[in-house]
Amino acid sequence: MIASVPHAHGYSDSRGILSARRAIVSRYEQEPGFPHVDPDHVYLGNGVSELITMTMQALLDEGDEVLIPAPDYPLWTAMTSLGGGTPVHYLCDESREWQPDLEDIRSKVTPRTKAIVVINPNNPTGAVYSREILEGIADIAREHSLLLLSDEIYDRILFDDAVHIPMATVAPDLLCLTFNGLSKTYRVAGYRSGWLVITGPQDHAEGFLQGINLLASTRLCPNVPAQFAVQAALSGVQSINGLIAPSGRLHEQRDAAWKGLEAIPGVSCVLPRGALYAFPRFDPEVYEIPDDAAFVRDFLVAEHVLLVQGSGFNWPATDHVRIVTLPEARVISDAIERLGNFLASWRP
Ligand SMILES: Cc1ncc(COP(=O)(O)O)c(C=O)c1O
Repeated sequence: MIASVPHAHGYSDSRGILSARRAIVSRYEQEPGFPHVDPDHVYLGNGVSELITMTMQALLDEGDEVLIPAPDYPLWTAMTSLGGGTPVHYLCDESREWQPDLEDIRSKVTPRTKAIVVINPNNPTGAVYSREILEGIADIAREHSLLLLSDEIYDRILFDDAVHIPMATVAPDLLCLTFNGLSKTYRVAGYRSGWLVITGPQDHAEGFLQGINLLASTRLCPNVPAQFAVQAALSGVQSINGLIAPSGRLHEQRDAAWKGLEAIPGVSCVLPRGALYAFPRFDPEVYEIPDDAAFVRDFLVAEHVLLVQGSGFNWPATDHVRIVTLPEARVISDAIERLGNFLASWRP
């Protein structure tokens, strides 16, 4: 990126520079079963965040519904509302390693439903979805002619024997938008560099796709120096592999968080199989937490450790928090020990 700065002063093609879009096409060519991608159907963005915003603005009319997981990555819910749509949350099942509940999704489809959002690997639960569940979601989309929106920004952050299956590979016959970027796998979140890849039949969605194109043009282009990092990142050494290996830092931190949480009486946590988070549950029989935001604030003030309340991820109860597993293992262990001590004496 530094070497490219002298050539990156001007605006670029509104979809992004061709060399980066081609590098993204080759990346997906190496993904077994991924449908053909045309470089014209790749859009670069100032992070996945901007591309989510553009997608929702292009897609939604007043009152259109979008199925979004609960817990969710809340930008999806916010951008659905801002785009004039109505977010409808489907449940992910904690007793089944946080896999989406297919029956719940099916029961929430209405004539106004336009799309299903899938976040895999998941923020905040760390779940990595099975082929069976992804096929089940594709079946529902097929039956009701729904668009698939698949946020796969953690697809290379996997632990143990977890395997990521891209949504587009189980739904090559459906219109599917796959979102990814440099923020997590290449740890350059501040560069603001993401991409959107459109696969499947497009004839029936001309207006929507023209909308994306128009919105891409109205922002002129994504920031250009960061676009030059894409090809280098995708074709260079994949340093994430060392971090997620059993002796790697991210793996050790995930283990430290999970072990520490499981050791606290009345706290349980599904082992995160991917991403950078843990989403533990506080047994309501043991801990009475009527307001999870108040709990998080009190813990911050008392122990100087910041969690995020589960309700911040549109989780319908007040019995979860999210932990980011990015600090060093000893820092995570210390913070979780403090959480255990705090819980033992906290009263609402
Ligand atoms: C599931 C998910 N999608 C998207 C993003 C945002 O990504 P970007 O930095 O590319 O905007 C995040 C960031 O935390 C995320 O967790």
